[in-house]
Amino acid sequence: MGRTEELIKVIDTNINHMISLSVLNLAQLGIKYGIFKIVASRPSYSELLSQIRVPNKPLLKKLIEHLKALGIIEETPTNLILNGFSYELRFPKDEYMLLLPDWIPIFEEIYKMVDFALISPDHPYVLMDFDKDADFWDMRLSSSFNAAYRELVIRLTGLREGSYVLDLGCGSVSPAYFGRFVGEDGKYLGVDYSPALLEIARSRAEKMNLPVELKEMDIGLIKPRTSYDVAIMTFTLEYLTNRREVLKKVMESLNSGGKLIIVDAFKDEFRNVEALEFFEGLNDSFVGYPSKAEIKEYLLGEGFDVSFEDHGKSILLVKKL
Ligand SMILES: C[S@@+](CC[C@H](N)C(=O)[O-])C[C@H]1O[C@@H](n2cnc3c(N)ncnc32)[C@H](O)[C@@H]1O
Repeated sequence: MGRTEELIKVIDTNINHMISLSVLNLAQLGIKYGIFKIVASRPSYSELLSQIRVPNKPLLKKLIEHLKALGIIEETPTNLILNGFSYELRFPKDEYMLLLPDWIPIFEEIYKMVDFALISPDHPYVLMDFDKDADFWDMRLSSSFNAAYRELVIRLTGLREGSYVLDLGCGSVSPAYFGRFVGEDGKYLGVDYSPALLEIARSRAEKMNLPVELKEMDIGLIKPRTSYDVAIMTFTLEYLTNRREVLKKVMESLNSGGKLIIVDAFKDEFRNVEALEFFEGLNDSFVGYPSKAEIKEYLLGEGFDVSFEDHGKSILLVKKL
């Protein structure tokens, strides 16, 4: 297996395990908060909500909705019921070498945050805000999982010295990483609305003397004036409500022959991704993972002349023809 194929498998495999551990942790929450015990007596939705003594009822409702989405709890027109549930944890032996260890401690922290979020959405131990909790996000974005997909972005887009690159929702780590590759003759513009994450990105890039440009703004408002060779959206679309308009502007900003690379936990590729969505939803801006089908439909619907390349489950490469 070549390095590119291996990296694609690494990303897909680790997302699969992020999902399976999230399923187990959701089931754990169902036991811990007595949800299953109460549902066993077939309560109505409102009876269940009132019998569980947590202050943050909207989050409790979200938890129940996710347990429903996974088929653990069922809803009839009048009651909530349990019909038995089984889940198989799969570890094929050829995947052992692909497992990355360092996202585990991060997710352990996120699982713990749910207890605090159920007290209050603004609890200080909930560390999912991009700005207020930029240090936690910087730790997440610095993990070897994130490093692996950044290397894939380079390999699949052919980004190199002299390339013009637009990175949407760039965060704190990608700018210095990609800035190293574009060099003085290229251009890297990272757009993000979190001033705290951009500050970390800026100080890293300055320390390494890299020619990166960073812009603090909402991606929904971009009006690219330059033409780019590569546009990058890695784990960004799940925070956008206006995906179609954003994708349209991104495609307009590409040269013909330019490439948009999207790396994400696509809904139509990963089973049970709803479990991961519950935990990522502790960030207020999280709206849900995109699907590859939705992106293809938007771009074709907007009349772009494009070709699509699926790389594994988690990567969609769009070429502007
Ligand atoms: C999960 S992080 C991914 C960061 C980076 N793409 C990476 O892969 O390392 C999502 C990033 O998108 C940014 N973001 C989310 N919604 C945004 C919006 N509407 N406008 C600008 N930035 C946004 C966040 O501030 C955060 O830095």
